[in-house]
Amino acid sequence: MKGVIPAAGLGTRMLPATKSQPKEMLPVARKPVIQYIVEELEKAGIREILIVTGKNKRAIDEHFDRDPILLEDLRRRNKYHQIQFLEELENLNIEIYYTRQTIPTGLADAVYKAKNFVGDEEFVVALGDTIIDSANNPNHLQRLIDFHKNSGALCTVSTEEIPREHCNRYGILDVQPFTSSTQSKPENSFVVKDLVEKPSIKEAPSNLAICGRYIFKPTIFDYIDKTTVGVGGEKQLTDAMKGMLEAGPMTALQLGPNEIRYDTGTFPLYAKAFIAMCLQDEEIGPEIKEYLTKLNLS
Ligand code: UTP
Repeated sequence: MKGVIPAAGLGTRMLPATKSQPKEMLPVARKPVIQYIVEELEKAGIREILIVTGKNKRAIDEHFDRDPILLEDLRRRNKYHQIQFLEELENLNIEIYYTRQTIPTGLADAVYKAKNFVGDEEFVVALGDTIIDSANNPNHLQRLIDFHKNSGALCTVSTEEIPREHCNRYGILDVQPFTSSTQSKPENSFVVKDLVEKPSIKEAPSNLAICGRYIFKPTIFDYIDKTTVGVGGEKQLTDAMKGMLEAGPMTALQLGPNEIRYDTGTFPLYAKAFIAMCLQDEEIGPEIKEYLTKLNLS
């Protein structure tokens, strides 16, 4: 399967940090957000990725470019530790392609930019500002792909239980348990009956939010074509998906134990992701933990 990472949004909730740099390039501990996502896709077996970029997003392609001059310079200065980090990045078994969404008119439009890239194959969409940290092997995305292949659905999404008062920030699912007489079913897998973008608490059909990972058959492009501008003046992917429900089944898989979503699109969430990833880092983790403990005492 090919992967698509929409990363063309303006990131207005992260201003001024995102005035001239992509929010997908903000560091979370040692690495920029989008590197975690590319690594996650690689772990799930994806070998070709299209990143949808736009204005002020040049740092993304620069980051994934090979840089022999920098490597040579580090070697000359015996900076082996830093070389190791650069080599990790350069050795990713992935081919990255780029396209531009010149005006960020919504996630649905960004995904539409992948139409020629994916052709008539199923594909993964992973939001460029959302890390899914998975200590499991296979990781969450691989589990999602496996479930999708067996479910026969037109689309499968990752979902997560969120506090009900946060429903107006997400696409929310109306579901029933997934059942199958012919295959083993993963825990917390669902058939999607309906979905609604950013509902009020009253209107929300559940507290299961779509959480940044999708698998689509190319039929989605027909439904994006038919979608009009929705919530926030943008073409919403959720609206196109809602239309696609008429064409065939949609399924969802909930994040499991040890599968954690980090949205980096607002400052409090970004800060939490940063701290969590620092704590996981063998080298800097203990020092950060000690510091946090100290802060807690004062
Ligand atoms: P968001 O809606 O969270 O990002 O999109 P945003 O629009 O950049 O953020 P705010 O609301 O202004 O703060 C989730 C992902 O989809 C991409 C974003 O870059 C982000 O990675 N996106 C969003 C696009 O590629 N194109 C768009 O038109 C909108």
